[in-house]
Formats: sequence, structure tokens, C-alpha cells
Amino acid sequence: MWTRAAKPAHSGRHAAPADRRAGAGAAVMLPSKDCHPSWLTQRQASPEGGRAMPERTPTMLAKLIAVAVAAASTTPLFAASFATLDGTAPLVIAHRGASGYLPEHTLGAYELAIQLGADIVEPDVLLTADGEAIMMHDTTLTRTTDIEARFAPRNGGYAVADFTLAEIKTLTVDPTGTAATSYPGFTPSMADPYKVPTFAEFLAYVRDYNNTNRTRIGVYPESKIPATTSQNTKIVDLMQAYGFTAADQNSYLQTFDHLAARQLADLQAARGMTVPVAALGAAVAMGSGFGVFDFVNGTLSPLADLATFAGGVGVALASSDLNADFVSAAHAVGLEVHGWTFNIADPIAAADQYGSFIGMGLDGLFTNYTDLAVAAVARAASTPVPLPAGLPLLLGGLGVMATLTARRTRRA
Ligand code: G3P
Ligand code: CA
Repeated sequence: MWTRAAKPAHSGRHAAPADRRAGAGAAVMLPSKDCHPSWLTQRQASPEGGRAMPERTPTMLAKLIAVAVAAASTTPLFAASFATLDGTAPLVIAHRGASGYLPEHTLGAYELAIQLGADIVEPDVLLTADGEAIMMHDTTLTRTTDIEARFAPRNGGYAVADFTLAEIKTLTVDPTGTAATSYPGFTPSMADPYKVPTFAEFLAYVRDYNNTNRTRIGVYPESKIPATTSQNTKIVDLMQAYGFTAADQNSYLQTFDHLAARQLADLQAARGMTVPVAALGAAVAMGSGFGVFDFVNGTLSPLADLATFAGGVGVALASSDLNADFVSAAHAVGLEVHGWTFNIADPIAAADQYGSFIGMGLDGLFTNYTDLAVAAVARAASTPVPLPAGLPLLLGGLGVMATLTARRTRRA
């Protein structure tokens, strides 16, 4: 099974901005082997028929560098780095679990997502009538559960906030979209995998999975709107109770309300927690810079302002201004960029979409099809970048140059 341990330590994503930029490996174009210089062989014979003397230092240095660079183009040793904030592969975030295959927001869907290779599992969180945190995207229970067959409407509908946890626990989650009630070859480990989980049950499941398998699967809860103080506090308290407290656990908090996002950061600070917060919205150009549009408050948050409390931004893939310049601007102030939602089921069409956004430097990919995102990241990682292979040669060349220079100095 693929585990997060196969990737570089994630803690580097939360280093100081300057360090992050330094750590972000950029692809480098180098001369091909067809450009290999012929000067080295030409100078093997001296006019006197004896041993050739070294050329003057600057020219020699330049040629040694050229050899190293040219050789490097034919001997790639490292896999590609990425244009992410820290140069590591973008995180695969299972959006509502493997929601393209199984009923969303269920423990079964999260278990499948982890088995398919997700780095992070993402739930939306809302409070029930009795103040319990449950996993649900919609503010009503109608789209994803069988509540209409079990209960009469309340206050004209089926709002989550109008039903108790005990009532919601009687429901079954139905598959939506391309999802089904089973997935080939997958047997959920839990007895009742397609019920509405509490947020606490979800956290316990991921914590226990990590402890058992020595993995570092992260969680990425979203405080759904209305992201009230009581809801935000409940989420942070539960994160703390289940041990998701630090910036190096692949975990994040998120919300569309940027005032609530700031509150999530403040609530954590009061508890000594450092899980990065992502402000959600649309990527927007503003003057010579960029910001994220806050759909809840109808305001535009400049990236520099968000960077004072957030660790990242979560932006709609359809944002008109989501491009490499936006991602670079976010990285420049230390913000990761996570894009939502990759929802193409066709592998070929999906591959194009992933490739495009990975090329921009996205740090995280919210996906309904975990396996397709994992495959796209693996493809991108398999593209060789030759410069690292040339570095030993370059250093060797510089060593030769230093030796020759020392000899000339002694003869002079
Ligand atoms: O949290 C990122 C993404 O999930 C936001 O969209 O509506 O699916 O929660 P939504
Ligand atoms: Ca969400």
C-alpha cells in the first residue's frame, strides 16, 4: 500500500517564507548532448607533441562547467521536483473521501480514499440540533441521506440543525453522482460503513489508522457556513482531543468565511496548536497583486493579509485568475495553494486537467477520484530533471580547476 512516508517530510511546507522559496526546486533547461563541446578532445595534443598545458583559468572554468552541464543532460539521476511551495509533490486531498466511488463523507469512503493513496482526507463539518459535530456538506440532509423516508420535515425541511445526533445516526448515506454502494475489490473494515459519522468518529478512525500503519494521513476539516464560533470551537477542540495539533501532520483547517478562518487560527493559538488554516474562495487579480474573494462576506482578501494568519488558500479551479502568477504570488508570501475540486471521472480527460494545474505549482489537489490524482502526481514526478545529476560533475570539474590553478601558482 502507498503511504505518506514515501514522500518527503511535510514539515518543510511551514518553514519561513524565504526558506520555502529556497526549497522550491524549479525545472531547469539544459543543453542537450548534441551541444557537447568538442574542445576537450581537440586539446589533447599540444603543438610540441607533448603534454598539453592548461588554458587560462576563466576559459578553463567555463569549459569545465560546460562539460558538466552537457553531461548532466544525458545522465538524470533525480525525479522531477515540483513548482510547489517546498518543491515536494502536491498533496492528494480526498474530497469528502473517495466520493466519486462511494457515498460521500462516510467512513467507508475515507477508508477507500486512503487505500487509493490519499495524503489527506477532507470532511465538511456542521453542528446538529444538540450541538454535535457531524460530517455533512449540505445544510440539509435531503441530498445525501434517506431522511425523507424516515422523518417528517421540520420547519419546512430537513436542516441538519433541526435534527439530533441520535436521529441522524438512524440514517443511511446514499451514493450520489458517479458513486455506488460498493467498489470493486474493496471491503470496508467497519461494520456499518455508510452512516453519517461524527467528526470525532472520523478523527478517531484516521488517528487509529495512522497509529496502526505508521502513516501520516492528514485531515482537512472545513467549518461549513454558518461557521459560527461554537462550530469553530468544537472543531478545534476535537482536533486537539484527537491529536491533530501540529503543522507537520499533513493537516489543515478551512472555511469559506475569512473572518471565521482568522478565528480558527486564534482558537488554535490559544491552545498552542499550529495546524495551518486555509481561506477558501476564488483567486482574483487585484491591481498588481492577487487576493481571494470571500463569498460569505462579499470581500476580497489580499494574499498578504491572509498570510498574517493563514497557511494556505483553497481556490476554485474555475477561478478566472487562477494561474501560475497567482500561485507564485501566494508562494512569495508563504501561502500554499490548494485547488478544488478535481471532479473529472474520465482518466484521459482528468490527466490533462491535473497536468495543467500541477504545472502551475498547486500544493494540494482536492479530488473526488483519489486514484486519478495519485496517478497524475506520479506521472509528473517521473519527469526527469537533469541538473542534480550534473552537480557532482560540476563540483568535480571545479576541483580539477582548483588543482590545475594551484600547480600553475607553484610553477610561477
Ligand atoms: O473545501 C474545498 C472544497 O471542498 C470546497 O467546496 O463545497 O465541496 O466544500 P465544497
Ligand atoms: Ca469542503
